[in-house]
Amino acid sequence: MIEILSPAQLARARVTGRLVGDILHTLKARCQAGTNLLEIDRWAKGMILDAGATSCYVDYAPSFGRGPFGHYICTGVNDAVLHGRPHDHRLADGDLLTLDLAVVKGGVAADAAISFVVGSRRAPADVAMIAATEQALDAAIAEARPGARVGDLSHAIERVLSAAGYPVNTEFGGHGIGSTMHQDPHVANAGRPGRGFMLRPGLMLALEPWVMAGTDRLVTDADGWTLRSATGSRTAHSEHTIAITDDGAEILTLPGAPGLR
Ligand code: MF3
Ligand code: CO
Repeated sequence: MIEILSPAQLARARVTGRLVGDILHTLKARCQAGTNLLEIDRWAKGMILDAGATSCYVDYAPSFGRGPFGHYICTGVNDAVLHGRPHDHRLADGDLLTLDLAVVKGGVAADAAISFVVGSRRAPADVAMIAATEQALDAAIAEARPGARVGDLSHAIERVLSAAGYPVNTEFGGHGIGSTMHQDPHVANAGRPGRGFMLRPGLMLALEPWVMAGTDRLVTDADGWTLRSATGSRTAHSEHTIAITDDGAEILTLPGAPGLR
C-alpha cells in the first residue's frame, strides 16, 4: 500500500522524525570503546518509551528475519550492515557502528540509520565508505520532488555508490513509510531514471543507501537476523525519512535538539 499523508499527519511526522534523529545522535554521542550493544538497546528503549513512542522493531516478525526482532534498535558492528540484532558485545576503539531506528508516534512512523566510527582510531577507508553512503543519500534527496520517479532516486544512489567504487546490492533498499514502517513503493538502491512510481506531495519515503567494501554478497548470522558482508569486509548505511512537499522534499529525521547535529 502507498499512503499519502494529510497536512495534519505530516505535522506529526515531523515530531516522530525529530525524535528518531535525536535518539540516534544522543546514542552516537554516548557510544565509546567498552559500550555494550545491549546497553545501547536499553538506552534506545528508554528514550522511545519516555517520549511516548512505540518501537517498530520489538514485535516485528517479517519474512526476512527469524521470529520477532525482540530489540529496540539495530546495532551493526564492522561487517554487520543490516538488521543487526543487539547482543552481549562490547565496542572497541575504531569499530564502525551502524545504528538503525524506527518508531511510531502520533500514528506516524519514521526510520533512520547512521554509521560512524567509535573512538578516535578512524580508518580513512571507513570514513570514506560512510561518506559515500551519506552522499548517495543526499543525491537521492536532491532528486525528490513532485513529478520525479522512484527510478530517479534509485539511479542517483547507484551513481554515487558506484562512482565511489562500491558494488551495489539490491536485495534490500528504501521504502514508503507512513502509519507503519514498511510500505510501498520499494526504492531500490539502483535503477533507471524516469521509471517507477511518480512522487507526489504527502508521500513519505525512507531512503537507505548501504554498502559493503568489495562485495555485494550478504550472509545471515546464526541469530537469524543480522546481515553481514560475505567476505567480512566493513560496511556502512545511511538512512533518512523524507516527505515530498509541493516543491521538493523535507528531511524529517534530522536531530532537532541544539548540539546534536
Ligand atoms: N529500519 C530497517 C529499515 O531500514 C528495518 C529494520 S527491521 C528490524 O528498513 F526488525 F530488523 F529491526
Ligand atoms: Co528503512
